[in-house]
Amino acid sequence: MMRKILVMSMLLVISASSTVLAIGPGKKIEFKGSPEGTVIFDGTTHKNAGLTCKDCHNPVMFPEMKKGTVKITMEDLYAGKYCGRCHDGKKAFQILANCARCHHKEGMAR
Ligand code: HEC
Ligand code: HEC
Ligand code: HEC
Repeated sequence: MMRKILVMSMLLVISASSTVLAIGPGKKIEFKGSPEGTVIFDGTTHKNAGLTCKDCHNPVMFPEMKKGTVKITMEDLYAGKYCGRCHDGKKAFQILANCARCHHKEGMAR
């Protein structure tokens, strides 16, 4: 019983702190490497879609909770890797014809 409570409270602490760290309201990651425009990844949207950390932070996707550790190309995405694992038109909106939902050109209204 004690052990169970301990584990529960540890989980609570972990999820509480990660909310602040990564995916709390307003937390965004920007990928600025594309000529198509900055890609904005919104933690809130993904959390609200019901995803957990492990859905993305696992060995085959984004192993590290750190920005810039994975080099993403569109070829990868079309091949169903990284963002493309979900953005396939079934789990989430598809990539083709939706460039501007990820890529934001500077100075353009969003
Ligand atoms: C689901 C989000 C998403 C969508 C939709 C998307 N991209 Fe990307 N794209 C990315 C990410 C993430 C990167 C990596 C950016 C970086 O490393 O800074 C990228 C990189 C790129 C790059 C540079 C790297 C490369 O592979 O050449 C180009 C060009 C590009 N995208 C064009 C497009 C075009 C054109 C479309 C629409 C047909 C599109 N993207 C749709 C997320 C997306
Ligand atoms: C939908 C996918 C997705 C989910 C879900 C997700 N992350 Fe991330 N996270 C990413 C991506 C993509 C990066 C950037 C990785 C890279 O650039 O190498 C990232 C980066 C991070 C970073 C580094 C941020 C920075 O500014 O350097 C932290 C911390 C993090 N995630 C924590 C979490 C935690 C904790 C959870 C669960 C509450 C979570 N993430 C859920 C996709 C996700
Ligand atoms: C584990 C699955 C998963 C991964 C991986 C994932 N997404 Fe998503 N994404 C979703 C879901 C689900 C939604 C919400 C449903 C929708 O909009 O189609 C979403 C929504 C979005 C939106 C819409 C936000 C808005 O408010 O308009 C953007 C932009 C986006 N994702 C970009 C990305 C980028 C960039 C990556 C990779 C760095 C990524 N996603 C990786 C599942 C994922």
